[in-house]
This record gives sequence, structure tokens and C-alpha cells, in this order.
Amino acid sequence: MKTKFPENFLWGASSSAFQIEGGWDEDGKGMSVADYNSFKRSDKQADSKVASDFYHHYKEDIALMKELGMKIYRFSLSWARIIPDGDGKVNQAGIDFYHNVIDCLLENGIQPFVTLYHFDLPYALVEKYNGWENRECVNAFERYAKVCFKEYGDKVKYWQVINEQNLMIRVDERMNINEPDPWKADKIRAQMDYHMFLAHALATKACHEIIKDGKIGPAVSSTCTYPLTNKPEDVWAAKMNDAMKTVYCLDMHFYGKYPGYYMRYLKERDIVPVMLDGDEEILKYGKPDYIALNYYRTLCASYLPADEAHPIGSRVFRGNEVDFDQYGYCRDEKNEHLTASEYGANIDPMGLRIVLNDYYARYHVPLIITENGLGTPDVVSEDGKVHDDYRIDYIAQHLKACHLAMEDGVELMGYSPWSFMDLLSSHQGFRKRYGFVYVNREDMDMKDLKRIKKDSYYWYQDVIKTNGENI
Ligand code: BG6
Repeated sequence: MKTKFPENFLWGASSSAFQIEGGWDEDGKGMSVADYNSFKRSDKQADSKVASDFYHHYKEDIALMKELGMKIYRFSLSWARIIPDGDGKVNQAGIDFYHNVIDCLLENGIQPFVTLYHFDLPYALVEKYNGWENRECVNAFERYAKVCFKEYGDKVKYWQVINEQNLMIRVDERMNINEPDPWKADKIRAQMDYHMFLAHALATKACHEIIKDGKIGPAVSSTCTYPLTNKPEDVWAAKMNDAMKTVYCLDMHFYGKYPGYYMRYLKERDIVPVMLDGDEEILKYGKPDYIALNYYRTLCASYLPADEAHPIGSRVFRGNEVDFDQYGYCRDEKNEHLTASEYGANIDPMGLRIVLNDYYARYHVPLIITENGLGTPDVVSEDGKVHDDYRIDYIAQHLKACHLAMEDGVELMGYSPWSFMDLLSSHQGFRKRYGFVYVNREDMDMKDLKRIKKDSYYWYQDVIKTNGENI
């Protein structure tokens, strides 16, 4: 099968600020929710204080990006580096740091693909307002977004507003929800989610006004749920799982209102968020130009009869994440046709083809993949190299699925896997690595932070050079 990609295909690789930068309090940066949460685990694993130390190595790292042949680099700005307390004084040193990074990328022929907010709300906003629960946070985000568009808008044309709102909202730690009463926690969650939708729309509108040729969109945690059997109830359960986890979120971005089933859920739980006059207008003008997909795995579900469904107050938690059947529609099932990575994410390139086709058919805007990859504990071999053929295989399979989706008619702008270099994983520190570039450190031993090109780096370099022809 020939897999040549279009000439202008945006080959890239991704990261996020708190997972890569380090320099967590340098030059005036404020603490973020992501810092705060990572510090809670500092006794057992790496935290965001140094991470991959991109803050001090960015020139060397961008040189490696150039050598790799990257056309785009997807990374996030740290809100707390730019406005340390979230809504107060702008920190010039933070602004300058990102100017330096962006300039360096452009000088090396790499387009910056910038996310405004990747799990790292300034912690001061939690202290002042309980974060997204309060509408002040929407105002703070709109202002932050405008500062960024005005500063960087003549250099950065591609923007992502919020990374994985649809996943983040279900992880209490990321939202800083500490409410023990489950109904109250659900109510807070619904309000926070709504406020992020408003913030998303306001930022999108501002981007279109400030950057005439700017393109902006959401980055969604994307997956599809297979029914365990062909029983109509299982099919319904699988559909509703996707609807309640992802589709409602995209519908809100594109159509400016909650779909009926979601409104019904909010009403039945008595957790409809406070909506003000004029909000409808705001939401209507926030239409994205494209959708970015972060894709790692698929799910499988069976129907949960109403009398077995979890009543409010008995939601199941998996780690820090509210479990899959949170909304009472389905039961999480194992898909015996798929194998999983050692961290439990099943590997499913066909699922990616399905998701790409589904989203394109529903929203008719260009798509791009801004995360996809394999997290494993890579090792440096005796020859000093990292032989990660498993990662090469994973990415090759997913790229083939992308190519098939493009042949199906999907407009896919690019592919930017997770991650450019090893970085702080959300729950497994530096034990779980995703990068094309190895960072020589362990969780509790900083070593020399040397960068080592993995086998996958050389393979991906060839993929980019040949536009995917030899996959
Ligand atoms: C995505 C996030 O959901 O998954 C990234 O946007 C994250 O920030 C990635 O690192 C992989 O997850 P983890 O838990 O392995 O780091």
C-alpha cells in the first residue's frame, strides 16, 4: 500500500508546558494547579520543578526538532508564567521567554502550534475564586488569551484553546474539586465545564478579531466506544458513552448549546449551571476553525439497566478519574480483540480511522492529530542507544490509519504525536516515556538531562523526509 501524504502535510511532535519546561518558579512564574498536584507526589516521582528542563535547553531542543524535520511544534504556554496570579500583572520575563522560543522555532523553519491552557490553571485563581467555578475565571482567561494573541499573533497562526476539556473535567485533581458530597461535586463540575465553554468561545472570537489569518480550535480527548455485543441496548450504551464524554463537548463548541440528552442529564441531576443573559450570543460566535484530536485508545461498553445504574452519590472512581459509567449509561468492558500497552491503554489504529471519519462527517472542518503515542519505560542499551521498535510500530500503524482516513475523504492537516521528547507523564513521572528523544534522568535522579535520539527519532525523520512513503 502506498502511503504518500500531501506535500503540505503538517508533520510535528507535541508537548505541554508543565510537563517539559521546569523552571517552575523562575523569572516570576506563579504556581499552577499542575505544579501543585505534581508536588504532592514529589517524594515518589518526578515533579514539574525541573521536568525535561526545556526552560534552559530550548535552543538545543529546537535544533533537534529541526534535524528531525518537524514542520510544526505543538506546545503550550504557561498561563502562570505569563500572568503569575492568573488575572493580575503581566510578567514580562514570561512573555519574553515565549518570544524567544517562538522566534527560535521560526528561525529553524518550524511553525509554532500553540495551546493556551494545558491542565495548568494558575493556582492563585483556585485560591481566589475556586478556579473555574467562578465566572471571574472566564474573564481572567479571556484577558490572558488576548494578551497572548496581541503578543504573538503576528508570529503564531495556529492556536488551541484548551487541551482536553472533555477529559480534564472528569479528573477532580486537575479541576481542583475537593467536594466530598457527590451531588455538590457534580454541580460544581457542571458549572466549571460551562464556564470553560464560555472561555473557549470568547478566546475563539478574540483570536478571529485580533489575528486576521489565525486558526483556532479545541484539542479533544478523542475515542470511540464499541458495543460489547450487537444487542441494541449495548449499541445504545456505547453511543451514549461517546456522546456524554466527547460529542456533547464538540457540539457545544460548534452549535453553542448542549445537545438534548446532555441537557436532560443536567436537569435530571438538578445540576444545570447558572447561565446569564447574553451567554447564548457568546457561545454562538465561538465556532472553531478545525478540530485537534488527541487519540490514544478506544473503549468498550455494555448496557447498564436503570435499576443497576449508579445512583447519584455512588459514582465509581478509578484512580483520580471518575469512572467510565459516571453517567449511568454503561459498564466499562474489556475488548478482547485488542492488546494493551503495559499501562493499560489498548492499541487500536482502526479506532483512529473510525474517529477521524466520524468527526469529519459531523463537523466538516479540517482535523489534525495533536497527540498519539506509546508510553513505555524505555531503556538506554549498552550501546548507548534506545531501541524503541515498539514505538515505531505503534506510530506506523496509526499513520497508516490516518492515510486510510484521508483516502476515505477526511481532510487531515497533520500529525503531531506525543511527544517530541520524554517528559513528565501525568501519573507515572519519568517511568513512562513517550518521546522521540530520550531525556537522561530518572524520577528521583536528575542525572545529566542529556538528550539521546531514540531509534524512533531516526525512523520518524525518514517518514517526514519521504512524506510517509515508506511506512
Ligand atoms: C493526554 C494529555 O491526555 O495524555 C497529556 O494531554 C498526557 O498531557 C497524555 O501526558 C498521556 O497521558 P499520561 O498520563 O501517560 O501522561
